[in-house]
Amino acid sequence: MGVIQEKGVGAVKKMFIDDIESIELLLAHALPEGIANLAISVLVFVGMFFVDWKLALLSLCSLPLGILSMISMYKIGMKEMSNYYTAAQKMNNTIVEYINGMEVVKVFNRDGESYRRFETDVKSYRDFTLAWFKACWPWMALYNSILPCVAMLVLPLGGYLVVQGWSTLTDLALVLCMSFGVGAPLLRAVGFMSTMPQINYKIDSLEQMLSAPPLQHSDQPFLGTEHTVNFENVSFAYKDSEVIHNISLTVPEGSLTGLVGESGSGKSTLAKLLVHFYDVAGGAIKIGGQDIRNMSVEALNNEISYVAQEQFLFNISLLENIRLGKLEATDEEVMAAAEKAQCGTFLARLENGIHTMAGDGGKQLSGGERQRISLARAILKNAPIVVLDEATAFMDPENEEKMNAAIAEVIRGKTVIVIAHRLHSIVNADQICVLDDGNLAAVGTHVELLERCPEYQKLWQAAEGSAQWRVSTAKGGKHT
Ligand SMILES: Nc1ncnc2c1ncn2[C@@H]1O[C@H](COP(=O)(O)OP(=O)(O)OP(=O)(O)O)[C@@H](O)[C@H]1O
Ligand SMILES: [Mg+2]
Repeated sequence: MGVIQEKGVGAVKKMFIDDIESIELLLAHALPEGIANLAISVLVFVGMFFVDWKLALLSLCSLPLGILSMISMYKIGMKEMSNYYTAAQKMNNTIVEYINGMEVVKVFNRDGESYRRFETDVKSYRDFTLAWFKACWPWMALYNSILPCVAMLVLPLGGYLVVQGWSTLTDLALVLCMSFGVGAPLLRAVGFMSTMPQINYKIDSLEQMLSAPPLQHSDQPFLGTEHTVNFENVSFAYKDSEVIHNISLTVPEGSLTGLVGESGSGKSTLAKLLVHFYDVAGGAIKIGGQDIRNMSVEALNNEISYVAQEQFLFNISLLENIRLGKLEATDEEVMAAAEKAQCGTFLARLENGIHTMAGDGGKQLSGGERQRISLARAILKNAPIVVLDEATAFMDPENEEKMNAAIAEVIRGKTVIVIAHRLHSIVNADQICVLDDGNLAAVGTHVELLERCPEYQKLWQAAEGSAQWRVSTAKGGKHT
């Protein structure tokens, strides 16, 4: 996942949609039509040899020159091919980013700046492509004009041969006629051949992408009898810099563990490692004593419900979005889950209720509503382990109350890891783990940590501060 995400949406789209489509087109046409055209040229040549080998040889003379200029073109073309594709991918990424980030760009008045970046990338792509084409064009023009000129030597020299009595006029006329049938198909065949390097390049880069090391997993089912989660000396780096350092942690079955820490301390990363979006760089993560690398993706996914920090909904109906939690669930089960996740009131407000389309990425719902839909998904899934990455935003008092009720449904009777941004929601947790810059600073209950963990005290003070701030604004008082 990491490798793909780092490529950028635009580049991935170009690779897996545009490039594959062009490969398909080229292969579908280049192979049969190229071969057919080549076969026609060769057959006509052979025919000419039967008529008169001397005249046929003459008609072959344009071939070496044409091939030489073609080779020159390829040399220039191939040298710049990878730069060309890099420029195209960059442009694609910028376009996708520009469109996706439109809201941010507008709100922060970055229109000009962002557009300039977009413009620069498009222009540099254009300049690069034009320069590349310009370098190739002369050679292309040369072989395009030389190759079809099979009659170039046949006419004058053939005439001479006839005058000398070495060939007959009828043969010359016949070979001349036949030679006109060679040029066009030959050129077409060559035209198809010129697309081969492009296909090769695209296939190579696709293969590179597909050969990225896959996540380590096996075909084994989950063999454990219980669901204690163990992080054993886990470390991890996104690229070069390590963001999780040697963390060991046990989450006993049926308990609730809170993960807290400052923004960027590695909470979400730890959750993503547990749901196996990435392989750990060192150490191991075990469920019920079984390393998650020793079970199949399906087996792991059956054991864990993961509610991510950012919600993504597919543009299918809300009902189907929730059903993703358990594909075989009946409509009634889905609706019951939605009800438990406190979606009832807002679903009732929608014209088509639960059958409303979610919009691209769930854009037609508010952030809090999106979250509750994904909680409904988790309730429906009913997996024994729940990993909940609480979202920071959308926490108005009403939504907070609903969220708490929904979360209570999701975690009932489960082994739970909650990444909590609102410390108040986990004061009763069985244990709280404090992360500090990728290190495990302390583990304990709320009371214990308040006594002995300075990092936790700091977080708690900030939480208290924000709670007071909320109370005072709710009363209409001054912001403190
Ligand atoms: N995809 C990524 N590629 C590279 N670095 C990343 C990536 N995701 C996160 N990081 C980095 O890893 C570190 C930990 O990030 P993480 O998302 O786990 O923090 P967090 O504790 O969940 O923060 P928050 O409370 O804001 O959600 C941060 O320094 C972040 O910049
Ligand atoms: Mg996070």
